[in-house]
Amino acid sequence: MIASIDDKDRIFTNIYGFQDWGVDGAMKRGDWDNTKDLMIRGQDQIIEDIKASGLRGRGGAGFPTGMKWSFMPKESKPGKPSFLLINADESEPGSCKDREILRHDPHKLLEGALIAGFAMRARAAYIYIRGEFIREAENLFAAVAQAYDKGLLGKNAAGSGYDFDVFVHRGAGAYICGEETAQIESLEGKKGQPRLKPPFPAGVGLFGCPTTVNNVESIAVVPTILRRGPSWFAGIGRDKNQGTKLFQISGHVNNPTVVEEAMGISFRELVDKHAGGIRGGWDNLLAVIPGGSSVPLVPAAQIIDAPMDFDGLREVGSGLGTAAIIVMDKSTDIVRAISRISYFYKHESCGQCTPCREGTGWMWRVMERLRTGEAEMHEIDMLHEVTKQVEGHTICALGDAAAWPIQGLIKHFRPEIERRISDFRSDMAVAAE
Ligand code: NAI
Ligand code: SF4
Repeated sequence: MIASIDDKDRIFTNIYGFQDWGVDGAMKRGDWDNTKDLMIRGQDQIIEDIKASGLRGRGGAGFPTGMKWSFMPKESKPGKPSFLLINADESEPGSCKDREILRHDPHKLLEGALIAGFAMRARAAYIYIRGEFIREAENLFAAVAQAYDKGLLGKNAAGSGYDFDVFVHRGAGAYICGEETAQIESLEGKKGQPRLKPPFPAGVGLFGCPTTVNNVESIAVVPTILRRGPSWFAGIGRDKNQGTKLFQISGHVNNPTVVEEAMGISFRELVDKHAGGIRGGWDNLLAVIPGGSSVPLVPAAQIIDAPMDFDGLREVGSGLGTAAIIVMDKSTDIVRAISRISYFYKHESCGQCTPCREGTGWMWRVMERLRTGEAEMHEIDMLHEVTKQVEGHTICALGDAAAWPIQGLIKHFRPEIERRISDFRSDMAVAAE
């Protein structure tokens, strides 16, 4: 079992905002400390160090970060500069970790942007921040201005000899603009709709130029990994699931929280240690969505001892996603909860491809019939079949994200759905007498 970490191994030392988030406070905590010494090791070595740290993307998909950076060209073609695009459009239901970084530790992100941008030979970073993040955007704009004032960004950034700019762009409230290619389209001034991949952004990205899209947390941990060494980060967690991670625990726990912990910590330890346990005790736990609404739910018995990392949650039929843990106790109407999630995906579908545009609406309408019990028994299997037709047949992952929660519900809570349909039939029969 993976051990919990203590404060000395926490990267985000101001996650609760008890200290000054501005540049002076950040410098006191060790940010921007001789950044140029981290860069002097050279672009290829930085990428090798990030690979060696085992860092995997923290936005949900878990793609190895160093490998992603290595796809960027070493020589830029005339008129084709490279860009880093930082995805701060955090919109996954249950996710609220990037928000805390942007609010309370924005300089970690900016220092990480400079180092990561340098490593991938990018001339600038764009930070695409969720439109609803008003306070966070204010702090981020202010932090960027502070960094320019101190010579940490711009020409000869942080005395490194490298010129690097950071631009902040505010989104307008569309969930789909968190998908990397939709985000690129949106930043280019177009309607935010995903592109077909390949080509991946490293080949054809922002304004047709090589681009790497990384999540806020993935970039913000980079300076600390380089300062403390890749083996420090790789030594936390377990093989292919290394490092620390911001877990967001919401729902029916006694103290909902965001906390940095070791990858692979057990669900029970995480919740007992940081969230005050399950409301009403562990026997009252019904199910958990462990990685944001896009991953299937896991019933209580299977999640309690599961390691909270990519492999541990895959083994119980779900995923780590953004590590946004939604806890549901026995008071939850589980069919209604999943129906509500279905409505979300129907609402947020960009409508570009038929299986998603039509399928999400269709799935939600059947989910509502299951919720009320009005459906016929055979509609359960029919709904499952439709989720299989949507899954893997769409341009972006939103189609999968709409299908998986329903598949999880049918797999684990089929008797509850059947009970509702039977009860509805009985009630109708009684009413007809
Ligand atoms: P993906 O697996 O398609 O891609 C992950 C990253 O790896 C992308 O940057 C992609 O360009 C890169 N990549 C993958 N294969 C590659 C290849 N062969 N060559 C070059 N680059 C490659 O996943 P996607 O669609 O980017 O993200 C889906 C995840 O996002 C879901 O797991 C979900 O949990 C998460 N998500 C997070 C949200 C949030 O608010 N943070 C919102 C919605 C979903
Ligand atoms: Fe748009 Fe849905 Fe197709 Fe994604 S899967 S491109 S959200 S219609």
